[in-house]
Amino acid sequence: LEKNEVLRALSAVKDPDSGKDILSSGQVRSVNVETGGVQVILSIVNPTPERLERFRESVTQELARISQGGRVQVDFAPAASEQHLSQTNPSKVGHVVALASGKGGVGKSTVSIYLATSLARMGLSVGLLDADIYGASAHLMLGPESKLEARGNMLIPPRIQGVKIMSMGYFSGTETPVIWRGPLVGKAVRDFITLTDWGELDFLVVDLPPGTGDAALTLAQSLKLDGVILVTTPQEAAAQVAAKSFYMFKRLGIPVLGVVENMSYFVCPKCGEKTEIFGSGGGERTSERAGVQLLAKVPLAPELTYSSDMGEPLTPEQSNVVSEFDRLAKSVLSRLQADKDSAAVL
Ligand SMILES: Nc1ncnc2c1ncn2[C@@H]1O[C@H](COP(=O)(O)OP(=O)(O)OP(=O)(O)O)[C@@H](O)[C@H]1O
Ligand SMILES: [Mg+2]
Repeated sequence: LEKNEVLRALSAVKDPDSGKDILSSGQVRSVNVETGGVQVILSIVNPTPERLERFRESVTQELARISQGGRVQVDFAPAASEQHLSQTNPSKVGHVVALASGKGGVGKSTVSIYLATSLARMGLSVGLLDADIYGASAHLMLGPESKLEARGNMLIPPRIQGVKIMSMGYFSGTETPVIWRGPLVGKAVRDFITLTDWGELDFLVVDLPPGTGDAALTLAQSLKLDGVILVTTPQEAAAQVAAKSFYMFKRLGIPVLGVVENMSYFVCPKCGEKTEIFGSGGGERTSERAGVQLLAKVPLAPELTYSSDMGEPLTPEQSNVVSEFDRLAKSVLSRLQADKDSAAVL
């Protein structure tokens, strides 16, 4: 199946309200022809549920005609004009990248924090937004003593190891669970962005809540993300759930930049023997399923757990594991550069 054929088929689908076809009226956001099928992402004007359903049906029908039995998937993303209203980034920011996971507890917050501090050591101006509304922990892992200050109407994020950090945890305390529902979640994260004095940022790292539920979905759509990085552990159970979140981001039209496998192995400090405590291959399988790069494998390092509990992130002088995150930071930057180059070609 060729992309041109798909485009031709799409130009036969008319918008019943305007009478124009969806291709020339700019309602086709992207077309991905892949092995075994085709995915089309539409940004429909006036996206009422009835209109979306109608377009899903007519596009599916039109593409089924040419797909020779292959899979046809029709997804929707907000139109640029709506995105403008509903998505908020700091006013001056180079890249915004989120860390996501299928399962909880796989090390998403740890990877977010160390990715941020590695980028800061490379000389970039970095912010970290802990948007895990249910389990905000970055502020504890980075320095429980840190406090928010306010200047006028704006919040000044504390700076730890060169990273400006803003966490929902500053507001919810440590003992009261936050109960927030759908629409509030999106509004809260947008307020967090606009009410914080981030200054100029080269990079904003966002720690999302785990899973593919409403909160993760709404948060991911409330920011204009350059991409997400999936964190998984080596077990098949974790890799399968990670694949689910991959499909969620794909459906939202958000690029997945790559996979980080955490807790990959343990090296005995006494004899140097390497043990794969949680099995192996979860990172590889997730990246293969998603068709993206495995960006890093981070070992299980007790000093990581300890330093997080103490609220004192490790420096490269204190542990070798930090160099793994430095490598991750470099891969992420070159991946983003490659995306930018290919966008320039298109
Ligand atoms: N590579 C590692 N080596 C040792 N301990 C680790 C490693 N990665 C994470 N941990 C520890 O495992 C625990 C869970 O990690 P973390 O909080 O980063 O996971 P998470 O995915 O953000 O969890 P949640 O879904 O609850 O937000 C923490 O105590 C953390 O210190
Ligand atoms: Mg976390």
